[in-house]
Amino acid sequence: MANLSVNHFKRRIWQCNKIPLNLNIFAISVFAAIFFVFDVSEASKGLSSSIPSHPGALPFHSFTGVKKKELKAKQEMGSDNGSVRKLSEQKDRKLEKLEAGLAKARALIREAMLRPEQIAPLDDADYVPQGHIYRNPIAFQRSYHLMERLFKIFVYEEGEPPLFHFGPCKNIYSMEGVFINLMEINTQFRTQNPEEAHVYFLPFSVVMILEHLFHPVIRDKAVLGRTIGDYVQIISERYPYWNRSHGADHFILSCHDWGPRATFYVKELYFIAIRALCNANISEHFNPKKDASFPEINLVTGESTGLLGGNPPLNRSNLAFFAGGMHGKIRPSLFQHWKNKDKDVLVYDTMPEGVSYHETMKKSKYCICPSGWEVASPRIAEAIYAECVPVIISQQYVLPFSDVLNWDSFSVQIELSEIPRLKEILMGISDDEYIRMQERVKQVQRHFVVSNPPKRYDVFHMIIHSIWLRRLNVHVK
Ligand SMILES: *[C@@H]1O[C@H](CO)[C@@H](O)[C@H](O)[C@H]1NC(C)=O
Ligand SMILES: *[C@@H]1O[C@H](CO)[C@@H](O)[C@H](O)[C@H]1NC(C)=O
Ligand SMILES: *[C@@H]1O[C@H](CO)[C@@H](O)[C@H](O)[C@H]1NC(C)=O
Ligand SMILES: *[C@@H]1O[C@H](CO)[C@@H](O)[C@H](O)[C@H]1NC(C)=O
Repeated sequence: MANLSVNHFKRRIWQCNKIPLNLNIFAISVFAAIFFVFDVSEASKGLSSSIPSHPGALPFHSFTGVKKKELKAKQEMGSDNGSVRKLSEQKDRKLEKLEAGLAKARALIREAMLRPEQIAPLDDADYVPQGHIYRNPIAFQRSYHLMERLFKIFVYEEGEPPLFHFGPCKNIYSMEGVFINLMEINTQFRTQNPEEAHVYFLPFSVVMILEHLFHPVIRDKAVLGRTIGDYVQIISERYPYWNRSHGADHFILSCHDWGPRATFYVKELYFIAIRALCNANISEHFNPKKDASFPEINLVTGESTGLLGGNPPLNRSNLAFFAGGMHGKIRPSLFQHWKNKDKDVLVYDTMPEGVSYHETMKKSKYCICPSGWEVASPRIAEAIYAECVPVIISQQYVLPFSDVLNWDSFSVQIELSEIPRLKEILMGISDDEYIRMQERVKQVQRHFVVSNPPKRYDVFHMIIHSIWLRRLNVHVK
């Protein structure tokens, strides 16, 4: 508790000193797989069992049954206080109404997924529901519009900046701060009334907790557990919402490599709550059915000025380009086969003197984005900004916004074992196909761009939409 000041409603609004006017970001994926409903009151039963040791064994897929209300009724009988019971019945009715609204939205989206040809496109000057970059453009549009109409988010007030309600807006973890700060000042989705909220946001920044509480010599990673554990305890004591759903309608967001680890200490946060993460590594129990993958974006100056755009597709002189450190499991193979080996495939650990990294991206047809220590790489967003077709080499990575985006249409994904054939594979893509892919990179760019104030369909809205989809999967009783 020592680290956490929780003076109710004393929060100041901190913002990045300088939120860029037009930052850029990129994103996540899964429409078809996402619609399942589980009863959260049962979900907690799985928590006592140890954490599964292999991906795909997460415990909450198959929960069914028991009504939360029975539990509540029992608790209330003990108190035998008419006014309390009445209040709680009112709350139940509110929740039922809220759930009925979500059920309707779910049915409408499902209809659009199953029978897109029968759905008349909505009138929307910002979005044309067609094209290859989406898994299902009509369903996405319908879902997005329903989100704009209905979705309400409650941000817990507890906690003081800079660990809470604030985050970094520069460098590779910038999305953490950008999102938290934009959420703090948001008026469209944010509600001050927790009774009308569909989801509850725990506004802590893993980057800030580590920056302020993690000792570089002692290296006690459990500070994350203590801070976040205390926070969950506080909100679960002060409000009924956490206990009601075991966290299923709560979300956190982190771009830090240790984002998954940070949530590990509170089992419900790890296994039940919605986690929006850059480090969407399935081997670290990222679960695309409940967690959302969003892009890591390296905003060096906190701004994206000069990052958007690149040469036209037929005026890109390099076939493929990569520059970066040799770490993780994939890059050693890339360096072994391609560093200083080929004039068309440029692979550097450090950029040659006087050559600009971003300019080289703008002049390359393909930008190689291998995972490093962690699955996510800021290169994916950089490539999309530079209108360079990303070549993604990763394992167990759930790509940003892949619930909505059809990554195969605007990126090349190759296996670790295919690295020796990299040039052959890229040369095998015809000019026509390349031009189509490059055009789609330009179309998808808007979903990775950071804007302040946020613009429809930009990265902030795409993250909100990912959370909306995951909330639709859950039925809170
Ligand atoms: C019932 O609860 C209300 C509100 O908490 C309180 O004002 C009232 O005194 C309680 N009545 C009894 C009989 O406990
Ligand atoms: C929620 O559950 C915890 C642990 O069981 C308990 O300490 C807390 O008081 C409960 N919160 C509410 C609002 O009832
Ligand atoms: C091709 O790109 C170079 C810079 O890389 C630029 O100077 C030149 O004008 C471009 N040509 C066309 C036709 O776009
Ligand atoms: C993903 O998670 C696994 C398991 O913790 C780890 O071994 C691996 O290094 C992580 N990162 C990448 C890039 O695969």
